[in-house]
This record gives sequence, structure tokens and C-alpha cells, in this order.
Amino acid sequence: MSELPLLAKELDQADELAPLRDRFVLDSPSGDASGPAGVYLDGNSLGALPAHVPDRIADVVRRQWGELRIRSWDESGWWTAPERIGDRIAPLVGAAPGQIVVGDSTSVNVFKALVAAVRMAGDGRDEILVDATTFPTDGYIAESAARLTGRTLRAVSPAEVPAALGDRTAAVLLNHVDYRTGRLHDLPALTAAVHDCGAVAVWDLCHSAGALPVGLDEHGVDLAVGCTYKYLNGGPGSPAYLYVRRELQDRFDSPLPGWNSHAEPFGMSPSYTPAAGAVRGRVGTPDILSLLALEAALDVWDGVSVEAVRAKSLALTDFFLRCVDEYTEPGRVECVTPGPHAERGSQIALRCPDAGEVMKRLIARGVVGDFRHPDVLRFGFTPLYVGFRDVERAARVLGEELA
Ligand SMILES: Cc1ncc(COP(=O)(O)O)c(C=O)c1O
Repeated sequence: MSELPLLAKELDQADELAPLRDRFVLDSPSGDASGPAGVYLDGNSLGALPAHVPDRIADVVRRQWGELRIRSWDESGWWTAPERIGDRIAPLVGAAPGQIVVGDSTSVNVFKALVAAVRMAGDGRDEILVDATTFPTDGYIAESAARLTGRTLRAVSPAEVPAALGDRTAAVLLNHVDYRTGRLHDLPALTAAVHDCGAVAVWDLCHSAGALPVGLDEHGVDLAVGCTYKYLNGGPGSPAYLYVRRELQDRFDSPLPGWNSHAEPFGMSPSYTPAAGAVRGRVGTPDILSLLALEAALDVWDGVSVEAVRAKSLALTDFFLRCVDEYTEPGRVECVTPGPHAERGSQIALRCPDAGEVMKRLIARGVVGDFRHPDVLRFGFTPLYVGFRDVERAARVLGEELA
């Protein structure tokens, strides 16, 4: 008889973040007889619904839109929502206020950030480096940005970046956590290396924001983007964000200078004058319903420290690996997520030849992770609502399905 179920229970009892689970709509905790025991390990793809969001959105739709109509742009704070919500995200990624604006998709913000980075770097630099292991959209956008700006694009793995940097490098686009393997890259060291050669660093934080400390200001990151539908629980398709370090804001020359980023948007001038500050990263009319769902969702972070979230995330992934080790026959899966904590995000990726079929069976049994082509089982651990009994159950069901 394994001691792991009992240990999981003890770890849950000692977990100071455990009560946060009640802030979300989820299946019953594992081992609870009151309902189906679902384990949600896909918050690194789509975060769970915070319980208060539906009522807030109902108010936005019925009262703000239904009753106040156009007045809500002022009276309900719609117009300033992109910067206001950016300031709510700021502490989660280690940024002082006034540097983040929310809107558009991550892909669009990658485009804005990368083209602006190349423009900041100046004419003498003709090469862009992109993370060769990147989530594909960043690579596609970087290729287009390179063509538009007349630069050459070179794909290199993050480990090869320091050696690839040189006088020709204009900008470097990197992922903080690899979406497939869960590898955490060394943002401080890589940013410093990019700066040492006089280039501009652009980071994609999709898989780190809300899961671990990022320290954008502390590490002097130039530009960063990220989505809000994973660990920030903003909802399907919720808008992304763009960080532009304060000292660079006056040099941020957007390739998408829409009217919302104009110094006087209602001046209706035929010529463009960019606004000062984070507003310069805006484009067109914000997607208010999604934006305000995100704003409400961010309430779950009240009183929560990112450091505590990180400590729990590492404890969860350590415990998952220990359970997989005990419940799965040796050699059946290969863990592709790094063991050292300094190199691990908040997910565990396990490789096995029949991963697609295995994940279908897990989902049918209420253990929801996801499959990444061709052979990766991906499990995301959202410390705000995943507990140690969830982890033990997921690993046990996985072991059974792999047997
Ligand atoms: C690292 C990374 N970048 C970008 C994206 C996609 O961005 P979007 O669909 O918001 O444009 C994802 C989506 O999962 C991602 O994981």
C-alpha cells in the first residue's frame, strides 16, 4: 500500500494556498465524495473560471452596456481599462505601474514589440534572433517582422543565444518557459547578454506570468508580451499585454499606430502623434467584454504572493514526479522537463510513443492535461487551484493507463 495518498492529504492540509481553490469553479477535490473528482491540469492552456466572474460580466452586459450604453466609456471606465488592467498585471510580473497595456492577442503584441525593438536598435543592425524552440506563432511573426524591416532572421536555441549575439544583432525574441518541455530559461542572464551586445530583448511570458516571479523591472527587460488566458485565468481569448520599459517608451515606434495610441485620440487629426507612456502600445477599440472579464478574474490574486505561488508550483511538480516514479513502470515515460528547479516552469512534460491515445483515456477518466504533437503528455500545475491530492490522483490514473 503506497504512502502517497496519505502524504498528499497532509501536504494539502499544510498548504496555505489551498483555500484559494474556492475562488474557482472546478470539479470536486480528489477524494471528495460529493461529486465527480476531476483533476484539471490544463491551466497552462486555459485557466479555470473564477467563481465571481459570471456575475461581474452580467453587470457589464446588463447595466454598463444595456443601461448606460455609450456613457460607459467614461462612467464605467471602459476607455482607460487597457492601462488600468495593465497596472493590475504589473505586480505579477515585477513591473512598476505605467508600463503595461492590455489588448489584442499575444501574436499581435509580438509583432508590435519585435518591430519596435528593431526600430529602437537602429539601422546598423541587420539581424533578428528568435528562439528556435518557440511556440510557432512567435516564429511566424518574427519571420514577417524581419521581412518588413529588411532584417535577416536567425533561429537559435536559447542556450546558443550568447554565442550568436554580435554587432549585427538588432533584437532577440525569447520564450521565458518553453511551451512544450516546460524548461524555464534564464531571463536575467540572457537579457544581460543581449544588452551587452547593444541589442533589444523581447520576452514572451505566456507560460510564466502567474506561475513564477518574472522580475521585468529588476532584470531590465526591454519589451515583453504575454497572454492572460493561462495562469491569469482571464477566459478564452482574453486579451494579451505588452510591457515597454519606462525608459524606452519615448522610443517605442509602433508598427500599428492606431487611433487609440494617439496623443489626442478624439482630436481626429489626419496626422499621427503618439501618446506618451504605455498607451502608445494600444491600437484600436478595446475588446471590452473580454477585458473586463479579465479585470474581474485578476481579483483572485488579492493577497496572494507570486513567491508563495512559485514555492507551491515547485512542490506540486516535485510531488507529481515522485508519484509518477512510484506508479509507472520504469522506462514507460521519459520526463522532458528539467529536474533542477531553476530550469523548471509550472508544467511537467512526459514523452511516450502513444501519448495521444493515453491523454484521451486520461481525459475520459477526468484527468485533464493535454497532448502536444508528436509524443508529449503535458500537465500544467496552477498553484491557485491544484492540490496535492489532485496530483496524486492524476499520477495514479496515469500509471494505470500506461500499464
Ligand atoms: C508561448 C506562446 N506564445 C504565444 C501564444 C499564442 O498567442 P495568441 O494566440 O494569444 O496570439 C501561445 C499560446 O498558447 C504561447 O504558448
